[in-house]
Formats: sequence, C-alpha cells, structure tokens
Amino acid sequence: MNHAVVCFLIFLVNIYLVTTLEDQQHWKNLGIEDIEAALKQQQNIGLAKNVILFIGDGMGPTTTTAARIYSNSEKHYLSFEKFPNVGVLKTYSADQLVPDSCSTATALFCGVKANVKTSGVDATVKYGDCAASLNKEAQLDSLISWAQAAGKRTGFVTTTRVTHATPSALYAHSPNRNWECESKMSPNASQCKDIARQLIEDLPGRNINVIMGGGRQCLVSDVTGTSDDPIDTWSCFSRDGRNLIEDWKISKSKSGVSHAVVANNNDLNTLKLNTEYVLGIFANGHLKMNHERNPAPHGMPSLTNMTEKAILLLQNNRNGFFLMVEGGMIDFAHHRGHARQALSETVEFSNAVQKAVELTKKVSYETLIIVTADHSHSLVFTGSAKRSVSILGADEKSEIDNIPYTTLLYGTGGGNNYQFEVVDNTMKRRNPQLDDTISYDYSQQAAVLVDEVKHSGTDVIIYAVGPMAHLFHNVHEQTYVAYVISYAAKIGPFAGNGGENVSFVKYLLISVIIINCFVSKILRE
Ligand SMILES: *[C@@H]1O[C@H](CO)[C@@H](O)[C@H](O)[C@H]1NC(C)=O
Ligand SMILES: *[C@@H]1O[C@H](CO)[C@@H](O)[C@H](O)[C@H]1NC(C)=O
Ligand SMILES: *[C@@H]1O[C@H](CO)[C@@H](O)[C@H](O)[C@H]1NC(C)=O
Ligand SMILES: [Zn+2]
Repeated sequence: MNHAVVCFLIFLVNIYLVTTLEDQQHWKNLGIEDIEAALKQQQNIGLAKNVILFIGDGMGPTTTTAARIYSNSEKHYLSFEKFPNVGVLKTYSADQLVPDSCSTATALFCGVKANVKTSGVDATVKYGDCAASLNKEAQLDSLISWAQAAGKRTGFVTTTRVTHATPSALYAHSPNRNWECESKMSPNASQCKDIARQLIEDLPGRNINVIMGGGRQCLVSDVTGTSDDPIDTWSCFSRDGRNLIEDWKISKSKSGVSHAVVANNNDLNTLKLNTEYVLGIFANGHLKMNHERNPAPHGMPSLTNMTEKAILLLQNNRNGFFLMVEGGMIDFAHHRGHARQALSETVEFSNAVQKAVELTKKVSYETLIIVTADHSHSLVFTGSAKRSVSILGADEKSEIDNIPYTTLLYGTGGGNNYQFEVVDNTMKRRNPQLDDTISYDYSQQAAVLVDEVKHSGTDVIIYAVGPMAHLFHNVHEQTYVAYVISYAAKIGPFAGNGGENVSFVKYLLISVIIINCFVSKILRE
C-alpha cells in the first residue's frame, strides 16, 4: 500500500478515536463542570406553592439506566436526572419485602405503610377485609385532602385507569385494589364502596379539579369496546347500570361550577383553560402504549399532552396546586416482559417531566417537582456488551453453552419470557438471535418461570427540584415523601406555620419517655 494512503487511514482512525473515545481531559472537564454546578447549588427554603409529584410505576434504577441508553446513549441524561437533589427510597410494604403499587402509593401519598393490595388504609386493614377498612381510624388522608384543605387546586393524570392502584390511594380507602367497580366485589363486602364510586361521590375525590386517564368501563356500565379502545376483560367491568361520568356532570352543574368531560385529543385541545373541573376519560381500560397510540383528533392523548393541560388548568389559582402524574404503563410493559415498551414509556414519562419543568419555569422558585418510582422491577442488565451495540441486542455469548444472550433480561417471567427448549434430550436456552430482540413485542428471557414478570424489592431513586428539594439527601423510607411535601407546602401535618406541631410531637415524646421512666422506677421499687 502506498505510504500516503496508510497515513490517511491512520489519520481517519485517529479522528475516529478522538471523536468516540473519551480521553483523560474529557473526564476531568466533566468533573470540573459538575463541581461548579454543585458549588453553585443553593438551597431553596421557600414555600412550595405548587407541587408536582411524578411516579414512574415500576421505574426502578435498572429501568432508568436502560431508558437513558435507549433514548440516546449512556452519555445522555433523562430530563429529571439533572435535578439538583437525589435520594433513595426503601419501598417494602407493611407485610412484604417486595411491594405492590397500592401499598407503595399509600406510603407515598399518605405517609403510612400499608399491606399489599390495600389502598388509603393503614396496616390494621388486611387484604380484602371490608369491615376493618370502614374503621375511620384506619382510613388515611392523602396529599390531595391536605392540599384541598389548604385551598389548593388538586389533580392527577395517569396512563392507567383512574381507579387503578396508584391513583386510588389519593382518594379511596379500599382493602382490595381490585374493587375498582362493583363487579369484582364479593357479596360479603356489600358494606364497602367500590373505588370508582369513591372517586366520584366522596371527598376528596369529588373535589379534585383535574382527573385524567382511562377506566370508562369502571365508571359507566356495559360500555362497548373497539379495536382502538378495547374492554379490559381482566379487570372490573361495571354491570350495575351506573353512569358515574353523567353523575359527575350533574353534581358539577348543581354546584354551578364550570366543568367539562373530555374523551379524546380533540376535546383536550379545545378545552377552555379557565374550566374549574375536568374529567378526562380517554379509554375503556388503560390508555394505549405511547408507540401504538392513535394521535388523531379522535385518538388518545400522550402522558405529556395530559400533563401539559393539567398544569395549565391548575395554574389558575392564587393558592397554588398539587398534581400527581403517573407513567403507569412502564410497570404494565415489564409485567408482560416487554423491555422495549417499558423503556419507550419511560422516555415518554421523561418528556412529560420536561414539559412540566418548562411550563413552571417562571414560578420555579415556588414549585416543587419530585420524580420517583413506586417500586422497581425484575429487569436485569448484565454481561459485557460493548458500548457501541444496542441496549436491546443479544451480542454476548455464554462461555458455558455458547448460546447468545440479550443485555437486558428478567429475573422472573411468564411463559413468553421463559425460553427453554428440549434439544437432544437436554434443556437448552433458546438462542435469542433467532428472534427480533429489538422489536416492541420481544420478550426478554427470564431465569424463573412464574405467572408474569414480578416486581423487585430494590430501592428506587427520588429526584427533586424546588423549595425544600434538599430534604431528600440520603436513604429514606418511602413514607418520607408525604412529609416533605407537607413540610414544603405547609399542608396536612405541617399546615399553619409548620414548626409548632413538630415541637409539639417532640414535647409529647419527651413526656412519654419521662413518664415511662417514672413508671418503671415505681414498678421496680
Ligand atoms: C368474603 O368472600 C370471599 C369470597 O367470596 C372470601 O374469600 C372471603 O374470605 C370472605 N371474607 C369474609 C370476611 O368473610
Ligand atoms: C400532544 O403533543 C403533541 C406533541 O407535543 C402535539 O403535536 C399535539 O398537538 C398534542 N395534542 C394535544 C391534544 O394536546
Ligand atoms: C397542629 O395540629 C392541630 C391538629 O392536630 C391543628 O389544629 C393545628 O392547627 C396545627 N398547628 C399548626 C401550627 O400547624
Ligand atoms: Zn405492577
């Protein structure tokens, strides 16, 4: 080969290395940049007039790492990953090491750990125990009730049914998360009210200004599905002749407040922003995954679309607002073992957070934005894949059986994830290179066959920006979130001037200890 050609090739290789490999200076510069940002960071000890709490359902640390890479590259950050304050939350429930979404939502929104599959009640209520859940002492107030009592506007947005596990803990008290409507309740629970009716008929549900999500089949009896918007045959399907959407409208008309029911993109687009009460029900069951959603006027909105409208609606208030936003389909995708769908939903969740940051920029000094997950999922990120390959690829081979494996796997999984075949009388793991591992519907392999991919008990990350965001600073119990919001916004337990009741509690504790000492001394004598 000619000398000039060789030189040119070496030159090209050099350019390639310089542009792709980070040298020592790169990491040093990055370190300096991060230190400068950290030194500039100031604590905001002001009042949180507005609070937006984002919950990525099932969005554990493995999911955010993989979604970051999927959305761009490992160098990238999701919209909330540069929030100035980050902490870690322990998610176990009152009865299980690995929790469900109802118990964790109760912890996050009410500040008290509950048993799995119970919503808005304390741990004295066992799963399915209607009588125990009717005990007023066991029923918990949530951030929504605290915010309403402080004159704030309230709302929630979700991609699940509005009666589903996570949102239910904001307004319901139920010993069974499946009691979304009457058809899933047993006759011996007739004293209890289903979750849909609690939302529309009871406090604080009926005073919520913005409700957006799916779940028409729980609110209205005998609705018909379409291929674009099917009935979810697994969950509650009301049969008792109810029309809670109509009931909601009638009650709002009677109170003389401006209100609107919206059912698709067109309704959402044309909604007047001075409407005081909005009920947005966009699907019979859960909303469609973002990648298969119909964005046409008669189709369903994205999480970002709903978040945007909710903030614009709630902002019209002197006393501020509280909004909960749930990316609910991350969990749903993981349960079915479809990693790409979970990553794609996480990216859309990140977009919704970005939108919220933009919309509240002018009032960022008085807006607390918190992003976290309710629990993790059993997604596994392992092997020794090169940085250049797809996060969804199967580029590594087992040194033992020579069969390739995907970089993302699941610990537990259903039949579609459990891929072992009998070849020559021996069990062999299926070669994933025979499948399209990049596709939305691919099911990554799982180690253990169970009914479906199960949750993980791994801690979740909490990201925060705004007033009192620095109170998230180490490993916390999940219940801490409710108290930080209460403290930052002066609602609920820390309402009024805040400090007083804390010192009262301290005083009470000290008194109890002193009395205890005396009593034990007397007993000993
Ligand atoms: C209520 O009925 C269900 C089944 O219909 C049963 O599993 C449950 O144990 C009953 N609960 C009580 C408190 O009797
Ligand atoms: C939803 O968001 C997309 C992209 O930002 C936008 O083009 C569309 O108009 C929005 N739809 C509604 C109903 O707000
Ligand atoms: C303290 O709590 C009581 C109820 O327990 C409430 O009435 C009072 O207003 C609270 N005080 C402050 C300063 O928040
Ligand atoms: Zn789940």
